[in-house]
Amino acid sequence: MTLPAELADEYPTWWVDLLGEHNHVGGIEATRWLLARANVRPGDRMLDCGAFVGGTARLAAQLGAAAVALDSVADFLAAGRRMEGSAGVSWVCGAAQRLPFADASFASLWSLDSPIVPRELTRVAAPGARLCLCAEAPADSRGGLDSFFDEWAELGWSLAAHRPYGLEALQTWRFVEAELVARRPYFERRYGSRPYLGQLDLMAYLVKAYERGEMSHGLFVFERR
Ligand SMILES: C[S@@+](CC[C@H](N)C(=O)[O-])C[C@H]1O[C@@H](n2cnc3c(N)ncnc32)[C@H](O)[C@@H]1O
Repeated sequence: MTLPAELADEYPTWWVDLLGEHNHVGGIEATRWLLARANVRPGDRMLDCGAFVGGTARLAAQLGAAAVALDSVADFLAAGRRMEGSAGVSWVCGAAQRLPFADASFASLWSLDSPIVPRELTRVAAPGARLCLCAEAPADSRGGLDSFFDEWAELGWSLAAHRPYGLEALQTWRFVEAELVARRPYFERRYGSRPYLGQLDLMAYLVKAYERGEMSHGLFVFERR
């Protein structure tokens, strides 16, 4: 399903324009890979943290989960509420830094290319909960992936599944950069000249950093001990 046109008009930014409803690297394919390993069961409380229009929450609700879509932008949640499969989802405006939920209240937690606050995700996770991430992951001599795994292990999470996703991310950043260049007059008109150049600079930076192996991406499933 496509995003409501007025959303892209209200929020003129490359990720609303070019990544679509499943607004993370890999799109719905990445979500499906994670869902296959997430053990979401009917009745489970599921949190989609930084949900945008709640694409993941709506899929989990279709599996029978009691899904909650949380985002700091109320307009994204309002758009998601009008999209297919929204009936079983609760829509909560809030911040990932201070989740408005009780301790140990979710069996399934998700953060897909959204700000990750490990302490808060850990606080609201029930024992045995699974945490699914699509996230930037350290790739080089600054600690590498081990530092990422160690941080989660210290908070009581064990790695259940991992798929390196750096190439997919690089493809995404190259696609976005190419679109911004190829359709410059359109995006420059939409964003304004300076914001347009800012977004193009960001994409150029990401492409270089991923090509040099300084940054990378991954799909991760962790389990709370
Ligand atoms: C790139 S989108 C990813 C959306 C979604 N996870 C998905 O896969 O479709 C990032 C989302 O995080 C939200 N966000 C950014 N900072 C946030 C915060 N501090 N707390 C909650 N949501 C936040 C943005 O509003 C945006 O909807």
